[in-house]
Amino acid sequence: MTNALSTRLDFLWAGLLKHGQTGGIVPSQRFLIAKMIAPVPESYRGQIIELGAGTGALTLQLAARCPGARILACEINSILVRGIKRRLTTAGYHGRVEVVSGSAELLLSEIGQRGMAKPDFVISGIPLGNLGREKVGRLLDAIQKTLGEGGMYIQFQHSLLDQKNIRARFQHTRTVPAFLNFPPAVVYYAQR
Ligand SMILES: C[S@@+](CC[C@H](N)C(=O)[O-])C[C@H]1O[C@@H](n2cnc3c(N)ncnc32)[C@H](O)[C@@H]1O
Repeated sequence: MTNALSTRLDFLWAGLLKHGQTGGIVPSQRFLIAKMIAPVPESYRGQIIELGAGTGALTLQLAARCPGARILACEINSILVRGIKRRLTTAGYHGRVEVVSGSAELLLSEIGQRGMAKPDFVISGIPLGNLGREKVGRLLDAIQKTLGEGGMYIQFQHSLLDQKNIRARFQHTRTVPAFLNFPPAVVYYAQR
């Protein structure tokens, strides 16, 4: 089976079994991924956090774009974690990119305890629209607190439901459509 096919099947299966948590049945495509990772300079050598890595569609592109960066990603679905780890090893990114099996909430709460420097970028595909108001509020607060001063939170969604919530927590926000993705999406860029 080709890598592209196994990626799609893994995600389709996750989407069918846990639709609310997965937020779709196809991984993000290149137009959306390009918009998501564009603000991270190719020469960036710091820490990037990715929340909800799924099959690693974005993680792999990000690792290729920023060879000097350290990427710490989390994914709540342990079956998807197995697939992403395999793909990262095949691509030769094992070591520079770490994937942890668990929730974004847990990872964000542990970052301080790991003694890590605050990241300049938090990139997320978590389906906020399916989480419920209080959970979204807590997650956005944790992201805001975790980011370094001037750092950027980048989030894609398939609706504008959480635009107000994001604007309420970040000084500068921008919303950009990604019409060529299926399904169409918007990308939020929110600067601390
Ligand atoms: C819409 S998919 C995005 C996947 C991938 N980033 C992409 O662009 O194709 C959302 C992913 O977030 C994961 N997820 C949902 N809630 C999560 C949480 N609280 N913590 C970590 N991952 C979560 C889901 O399992 C799913 O793989």
